[in-house]
Amino acid sequence: MADSEYILQLENISKFFGPVIALNGVTLRLRRGEVHCLLGDNGAGKSTLIKTLSGVFAPEQGQYLVDGAPVRFRSPRDALDAGIATVYQDLALVPLMSVTRNFFMGREPVKKLFGLLPVMDHAGAAAIAMAKLAEMGIRVRDADQMIGNMSGGEKQCLAIARAIHFGARVLILDEPTAALGVKQSVNVLKLIHKARERGISVIFITHNVNHAYPVGDSFTLLNRGQSMGTFAKAAVSKEAVLDMMAGGAEMKTMMADLEGVTI
Ligand SMILES: Nc1ncnc2c1ncn2[C@@H]1O[C@H](COP(=O)(O)OP(=O)(O)OP(=O)(O)O)[C@@H](O)[C@H]1O
Ligand SMILES: [Mg+2]
Repeated sequence: MADSEYILQLENISKFFGPVIALNGVTLRLRRGEVHCLLGDNGAGKSTLIKTLSGVFAPEQGQYLVDGAPVRFRSPRDALDAGIATVYQDLALVPLMSVTRNFFMGREPVKKLFGLLPVMDHAGAAAIAMAKLAEMGIRVRDADQMIGNMSGGEKQCLAIARAIHFGARVLILDEPTAALGVKQSVNVLKLIHKARERGISVIFITHNVNHAYPVGDSFTLLNRGQSMGTFAKAAVSKEAVLDMMAGGAEMKTMMADLEGVTI
């Protein structure tokens, strides 16, 4: 059902860790081509939710649908095969390997030596890595440069460009700007915008409303394992999102004010 309005849906998902209720009946629906921001404070359940999306956890209750059809991922590999790529906060990059090696990670193009012997096409791989990064507006001086020498923002950009190159339809970014300064955060936000322009649907996890609001089309707020709702940008101001994040009585008033405009 590729004509489903949503590319991904988590419906009424719950997840328990012993007595801890990490997620309690959470619904998250990602529209095709949108940037959907998942906001919430520490311990709200954001990582647990994305681990469910990326196939690390099977939901104990609730349903997971891709293109409108129920799925049951047994591992992150299954999710990746369905075009759902997750860029984790620790990035899974190898500092002592080059930009090219990190870009391909064992999926390097191969050429035949003497028309027979398959060997890694190093020059070809470097050229592709540089070109793909350049397409995303990332300039790397030298493809043989060690990743360990790149800035946090450049590494984050490389991980995103890699996921896009290998065919991600959905990009899940867990706090990509958390460890970055202002300028590098802006670069990552630009990249999120570019991914969206290419028709990729994005889930952007953050607790920074100032980062989420400019690039987000809609916002889901998590609070202690429960969803406080999903709001389209047209229906909610940045200040209202900030207030909801702050919680408490203000939040209840805001929620009452927003009744009828939730999506
Ligand atoms: N493997 C686990 N075992 C036990 N409890 C866990 C486990 N993973 C998460 N939890 C608990 O589930 C709740 C939600 O955690 P989660 O990591 O999803 O929050 P988060 O929103 O990602 O927080 P942060 O912003 O700090 O990363 C927390 O109370 C946490 O202690
Ligand atoms: Mg987390």
